[in-house]
Amino acid sequence: MSSDFIAIGHIDDIPQRGARCVNTAFGRIAVFRTAEDEVFAIDDRCPHKGGPLSEGMVHGRAVTCPLHNMVISLESGTAQGADEGEVQTYPVRVENGRLSIALSALPMAAE
Ligand code: FES
Repeated sequence: MSSDFIAIGHIDDIPQRGARCVNTAFGRIAVFRTAEDEVFAIDDRCPHKGGPLSEGMVHGRAVTCPLHNMVISLESGTAQGADEGEVQTYPVRVENGRLSIALSALPMAAE
């Protein structure tokens, strides 16, 4: 089954080493742009206590939560180091700078 990609704007809408939020029916997704212009999309909700990851500091392919400094991999969504936790990640497509994410990757609602 092919994925449904949803347009979410242009890469230039996101500052380097910054993020932008996209509101979906399934919650807020933070779309990050790294210093190397890679783009990653993950839930904007820290697995620790729900901190806004989009307001965290991007370094390499990771973001540090602004609340208690948990480091989350933008690639895998998993917390790095001794901390535990995981956030949902979403495939991102970049075509001529235009971004889209695969919302079909969203988890199905419970039941
Ligand atoms: S809420 Fe993110 S580290 Fe605590």
